[in-house]
Amino acid sequence: MIDQSILVLDEGTTSTRAMLFAQDGRFRGVEQAELTQHYPRSGWVEHDAGEIWDKTLSCARAMVDHAGGAARIAAIGITNQRETVVAWDRETGKPLSRAIVWQDRRTADFCAKLKDAGHEAEVRARTGLLLDPYFSGTKMRWLLDHDDAVRAAAKAGTLAFGTVESWLVYKLSGGSHHITDASNASRTLLLPLDASSWDQELCQLLGVPMETLPRVTDCAGELASTAPDLFDGAIPICGMAGDQQAATIGQGCLNPGETKATYGTGAFVLSNIGTRVPWSDNRLLGTVLYQVAGERHYAIEGAVFVAGSLIKYLRDSLGMISSAAETEELARSIPDSGGVVVVPALSGLGAPHWRPEARGIISGLGFDTGRAHIARASLEAMAHQTRDLASGFAADGCQWTGLRIDGGMAVNDWMAQDIADLLGQSVTRPDFVETTALGAAMLAAVGCGMKSNLQEAVDTMIGTAQTFTPNMNEEARQRRLARWEAALRKV
Ligand code: G3P
Repeated sequence: MIDQSILVLDEGTTSTRAMLFAQDGRFRGVEQAELTQHYPRSGWVEHDAGEIWDKTLSCARAMVDHAGGAARIAAIGITNQRETVVAWDRETGKPLSRAIVWQDRRTADFCAKLKDAGHEAEVRARTGLLLDPYFSGTKMRWLLDHDDAVRAAAKAGTLAFGTVESWLVYKLSGGSHHITDASNASRTLLLPLDASSWDQELCQLLGVPMETLPRVTDCAGELASTAPDLFDGAIPICGMAGDQQAATIGQGCLNPGETKATYGTGAFVLSNIGTRVPWSDNRLLGTVLYQVAGERHYAIEGAVFVAGSLIKYLRDSLGMISSAAETEELARSIPDSGGVVVVPALSGLGAPHWRPEARGIISGLGFDTGRAHIARASLEAMAHQTRDLASGFAADGCQWTGLRIDGGMAVNDWMAQDIADLLGQSVTRPDFVETTALGAAMLAAVGCGMKSNLQEAVDTMIGTAQTFTPNMNEEARQRRLARWEAALRKV
């Protein structure tokens, strides 16, 4: 019997990666490429869907070669930045416009109009989401209203809309499959949490023609297959989930109350709530965690828009640090932030505030403020944002039974300790922090029959972890919280 691997395509906001995993979850290799970020106007963020496809394909090919050919890959799992909208032509297979990225705020006015017209309560009750530009539906509508090529394709009946996994499967399958999985579909504003497919009324409200949308599928199973010429042999695509849902699975959060926080471009906290349809009284989101064999499991989610992107901003736009790792050194070089607070609302504030118009601030500056203070305050903002979410989750009756952290930023030991300190709760970090890719590998392993269910995948594929226990006195914690609250009021 040949030793087969799982190939994961992890298409994030800033980079696209292909990763290989062994059946026991061991990591076997990665190929990655950075993605160009386009910022045509303030608050707008775009990607080139052609670049996403080209780079994903070339990374995937490198990993297929690394594995020893297509026959050595049991299945592909796909995981992706969610909500980002791609519009393409079904006949040519080419993108019709730039992809509008999840961070993009251009539909804030449209969302406000829908809210003013009194639609938010119903949309929330049905989809678990809010009327915020973050979600895909209003971005689709914007493209129909403002892009001639998209409008013409809609008129000609050749327009296909999809989020990134949908676009990738379409290309990988040689155009034969236009599908999306339930976890990604639940981020569009068009899928009721308890319905198997798109809702006519929601599509009408947002002005999105239903026939342009992909078919909604499970997150695991024989979902599609790659066109044979792409990798010298067809490979089944057996797993698919939004990156935050995949990370929740990759962290082994399969039981109600189990919670993870991923610190990537943004920070996303998801708490498994089992099979009941979620509801939040505290402006958190209800979302599909996964759907396997037609059965849905749900999560409550707190979405924070700016995490690692703040560190990237300090490095690339302000030139304040030369590497992300330097923030840890700087934070440790001083006893506290000297009263400096960074509220990183660079693209508005997400949960639990939902203020698309908000912009970031640095408060408490003095002549004694140096870059170490700003770097430390930037890291502290992660713990503060996480704590704000913890309060919201608790108020919703969803008490975290421990927090598991991951994502590129979570390798920062200082930040991990600060989160534990501010929460007053232990925080666990797996030694292998690429839990998003691992979760997609688990789904693909279940989908191709390598594992009989997700519990078996979790039991056999997750490695060791490190725990950070809280070590901050109550007075210091209260001082930090009061300063953060005061700074938030200025945003
Ligand atoms: O909802 C947006 C999220 O999926 C983006 O994830 O990993 O690119 O920060 P990431």
